[in-house]
Amino acid sequence: MAIRVRHPNFLALVVFSFLSIASAKVFFEERFEDGWESRWVKSDWKKDENLAGEWNYTSGQWNGDANDKGIQTSEDYRFYAISAEFPEFSNKDNTLVFQFSVKHEQKLDCGGGYMKLLSGDVDQKKFGGDTPYSIMFGPDICGYATKKVHAILTYNDTNQLIKKDVPCETDQLTHVYTFIIRPDATYSILIDNVEKQTGSLYTDWNLLPPKKIKDPEAKKPEDWDDKEFIPDPEDKKPEGYDDIPKEIPDSDAKKPEDWDDEEDGEWTAPTIANPEYKGPWKAKKIKNPNYSGKWKAPLIDNPDFKDDPDIYVFPKLKYVGIELWQVKSGTLFDNVVITDDPEYAKQLAEETWGKQKDAEKAAFEEAEKKKEEEESKDDPVDSDAEEDEEDADDASHDSDADSKTEAGEESDENKDVHDEL
Ligand SMILES: *[C@@H]1O[C@H](CO)[C@@H](O)[C@H](O)[C@H]1NC(C)=O
Ligand SMILES: *[C@@H]1O[C@H](CO)[C@@H](O)[C@H](O)[C@H]1NC(C)=O
Ligand SMILES: *[C@@H]1O[C@H](CO)[C@@H](O)[C@H](O)[C@H]1NC(C)=O
Repeated sequence: MAIRVRHPNFLALVVFSFLSIASAKVFFEERFEDGWESRWVKSDWKKDENLAGEWNYTSGQWNGDANDKGIQTSEDYRFYAISAEFPEFSNKDNTLVFQFSVKHEQKLDCGGGYMKLLSGDVDQKKFGGDTPYSIMFGPDICGYATKKVHAILTYNDTNQLIKKDVPCETDQLTHVYTFIIRPDATYSILIDNVEKQTGSLYTDWNLLPPKKIKDPEAKKPEDWDDKEFIPDPEDKKPEGYDDIPKEIPDSDAKKPEDWDDEEDGEWTAPTIANPEYKGPWKAKKIKNPNYSGKWKAPLIDNPDFKDDPDIYVFPKLKYVGIELWQVKSGTLFDNVVITDDPEYAKQLAEETWGKQKDAEKAAFEEAEKKKEEEESKDDPVDSDAEEDEEDADDASHDSDADSKTEAGEESDENKDVHDEL
């Protein structure tokens, strides 16, 4: 991680980041180099049903460095569960950074690309969809509706989904996902070292009841005027306004030449809409000088709120794992890091993904070009059949995040309160 000083103005910055790196605590780091298999335990979960998928140790079909390998799901319609242990730690009083890169080579249309942090003692051979976890983080895609970054925190034995929408990347290239949780109970979610969402654990998850609620006793005062606009009392109906007819005879109409007054009756011109007619008279609207604004109940302290200054703390983090169901395989994980230093994680991302991304993109485009050339030789009807099959896959998506979480569909009322805080 050599940093060369290219400009004297950068000196202070460089020295600072160097120091912070030197002091970074790295609880776990996995670049999937030789020997990775001794650190990771493949679970037996779903093996007896023949539904446990195999991992492929590879840099993938396109990459920025063929020697930089990761682990990739390699069989369709399979469950995947693998985990690694690290010395147990608590993030109390420290920042927690959880980061990894993921690439969906299969053009993922339904499946997860997330990882989990687990606490306490876990039988890694039995790690599966029902194993309790502390944090679940990363992209999840299914059809057009779900394209999001999951950030699930387990609090009081309940999995809580983030309430903010964080869209994930949907292309077939490597992206780095970073989750930062700070001791002041703030968090940030980064993709490719760019912050995509940030806020407070208090407001962006339903971990605790809201600090403030609308006063249920409060009533709108009788004299509260919430009409923003009123009819102008000065505006008067113009004289003769009501005499303007809605329709008038069409002056362009002519009595037909063959009209016979005796047989056809007296000819009258057909009527047309009167351009002068403006409908019933209404006074024009003016701003109400007495407008008091929209009435809102005042906020009061929520009697059900009991602060937990350790809301951000996971006291026994000990494992990192991947537990997925994949309809279509091809998701490649790499460069997992758990540290207390966002700067360290950032530099790791730059050194790996950052250095390789342009070459990877070029390799991908090359591969696409080749594929297109090959496909154009084939019968073009075939590609349609393939798409139909993909659509059917959507229905079978079984994201454990959706089925196992009890994240509140919060009422609009609560939402207002959170927004105001
Ligand atoms: C592993 O990935 C490489 C690169 O994409 C591929 O050539 C190979 O067939 C894969 N192996 C398995 C067992 O899927
Ligand atoms: C924890 O969960 C239990 C059961 O759902 C609930 O009764 C209790 O109030 C919760 N405690 C906190 C601090 O949220
Ligand atoms: C505004 O309030 C005053 C005092 O209540 C009242 O006299 C007046 O008519 C109100 N004006 C309008 C436009 O309602």
